[in-house]
Amino acid sequence: MINNKVITLNEFIVNKQWEFPFATGELTSLLHDIVFAAKLVNREVNKAGLVDILGTTGDSNVHGEEVKKLDMFAHEIFLSSLRTSGECCGVASEESTGFISFKGAESRKAKYVVCIDPLDGSSNIDVNVSIGTIFSIYERISTEDVSCNIDDFLQMGRKQVAAGYVLYGSSTMMVYTTGYGVNGFTLDPSIGEFCLSHRDIKIPAKGKIYSINESYRARFSKSINQYVDYCKEEDKASNRPYSSRYIGSMVADFHRNLIKGGIFMYPAMTKYPNGKLRLLYECNPMAFLVEQAGGMATNGYERILDLQPTALHQRSPIFIGSPDMVKKVGEFINQERLVTTN
Ligand code: AHG
Ligand code: MN
Ligand code: MN
Repeated sequence: MINNKVITLNEFIVNKQWEFPFATGELTSLLHDIVFAAKLVNREVNKAGLVDILGTTGDSNVHGEEVKKLDMFAHEIFLSSLRTSGECCGVASEESTGFISFKGAESRKAKYVVCIDPLDGSSNIDVNVSIGTIFSIYERISTEDVSCNIDDFLQMGRKQVAAGYVLYGSSTMMVYTTGYGVNGFTLDPSIGEFCLSHRDIKIPAKGKIYSINESYRARFSKSINQYVDYCKEEDKASNRPYSSRYIGSMVADFHRNLIKGGIFMYPAMTKYPNGKLRLLYECNPMAFLVEQAGGMATNGYERILDLQPTALHQRSPIFIGSPDMVKKVGEFINQERLVTTN
């Protein structure tokens, strides 16, 4: 017997539309298209071990990394869904060097652009470990009815109108925000619908989990190593040592920390002053989500959402998660900055 009314993601999106002043339905429709594309990608992800989709295309993406077949599949699915949506005038994807401007008459009139990491954690595909999709939506700043331009994509993260991720994990989830809190939906594969399962998610102020690739310790700055030592230190009063958890798919690491409380870090390193993660496709959408859930995201000393992007594939160090933990690592970083600037 069903006791509670099940709310599907599509119903939820439509109901929420009326909370926006002057809502005209375009964002609702755009979100529907993203949800639909996510279901198609989910279908392929679930079959990844069965069909000849495993392995690599042999090509490298714009970051010089090997592209798995599923990355390109996801990129193409989201692109074609957004191209035909009529609500999106262009897309910037981690898998494409430049942005893609849609030429159709309807698309040119559309008022939104989308930034997307079609498949996050791609090194985990072949080993059946959780992966994800991250998306971010902005209102264009160029005039409608002409092609979009680079400035439409190089907006500060605080200008996002919506952001979210799909986690292809032990279950498939979609978590998104339009700036009015964060809600999570779990896919019921038997009916093919995402159903509201995590209403108004709030991240705990502090947690017990720290996530960082510790194999890079020799390349971290002193303050990052000091913070990692702090996480490992015995201290009953502050519930330490914390547990170390690192999946290698940002979506999965972020999602766990969002629910349980924790911090995810990808800092600057020697030779990689901006870390690895991309501001437009990974840092900004996750920063918008975490702030909407009561958390924090910084590059160590500045709010991620206040960074002005200057290039599509720009990277940024990131410290994201429970606010008390992000503040704490910030104290270590600022201390080191004070010492080195004096
Ligand atoms: P992508 O698969 O989209 O390139 O992203 C991988 C990212 C992110 O998901 C993860 O947190 C990080 O790379 C892992 O990097 P390391 O292997 O350097 O720790
Ligand atoms: Mn990624
Ligand atoms: Mn990716």
